Amino acid sequence: MAARVIDGKAVAAAVKERVKVDAAAFAEEFGRAPALATVLVGEDPASQVYIGGKRKASGEVGIRSVHHELDAATRQEDLEGLVGDLNADEEVDGILVQLPLPDHLDSDAVVATIDPAKDVDGLTPVNAGLLAHGTPGLVSCTPAGVMELLAHEGVEVEGAHAVVVGRSKLVGVPVARLLLMGNATVTMCHSRTRDLDAVCAQADILVAAVGVPRLLGKDAVKPGAVVIDVGINRTEDGLVGDVDFDAAAEVASAITPVPGGVGPMTIAMLLHNTLAAGRARMASR
Ligand code: GUN
Repeated sequence: MAARVIDGKAVAAAVKERVKVDAAAFAEEFGRAPALATVLVGEDPASQVYIGGKRKASGEVGIRSVHHELDAATRQEDLEGLVGDLNADEEVDGILVQLPLPDHLDSDAVVATIDPAKDVDGLTPVNAGLLAHGTPGLVSCTPAGVMELLAHEGVEVEGAHAVVVGRSKLVGVPVARLLLMGNATVTMCHSRTRDLDAVCAQADILVAAVGVPRLLGKDAVKPGAVVIDVGINRTEDGLVGDVDFDAAAEVASAITPVPGGVGPMTIAMLLHNTLAAGRARMASR
């Protein structure tokens, strides 16, 4: 294997250490800990694991976790009512509604009710719009984590050709926007892209965020490329990414593993965003 393996756990630990110091200073200054509210609707096992990880990490850095678990049959207006209560709660700094929601609920409508100042997922139309304008407010955690990893690894984004595979609101679109703000030349690929491997093979920086196990192999990786794998897919072989790690690692210069790459960064950036949201709210009072 030629590629350097990017240690997301170590970079996330460094981010969390910074947040811990900031959270202690926040508590000292304002007489309360910063707080993150999480909302889980239904019993999706993967979502339960993700939310558990977010709550545990909050505790580790001195962020108070306020958790609401709602029945799978919860009605739209009741969920939006809860978000409204959290918006009004002066002691809640960040709000995260875990996605996906059960099918009968309109996720976009729920997300749109979150106060943009507390939108630590960066998913509201206001924060997505600010990012699209190049004047970011709160930025989605996984894309922010990808950029933090690239910076930490000393990867030169400016002038690089970055290829993003996947166009989701949560990852593909915002990460492409951040790479463009970093002056990369950005190509976006998706399920209708012709000859996906050939396009990916042009990338200096390849970001895979499609949710298809091991979609991208050796033919999709340019020799010396940096490969960032955002995929977390449950398979019979355990958790695997969107990239065939062993094959890609033979040609890439650096690559993130799954697990232990981008995943830990998502949580670290959520904690970072909660502190940033708390500071901004307290400063505007
Ligand atoms: N589901 C999977 N990832 C995420 C995330 O980053 N935020 C939310 N709200 N839901 C998710």
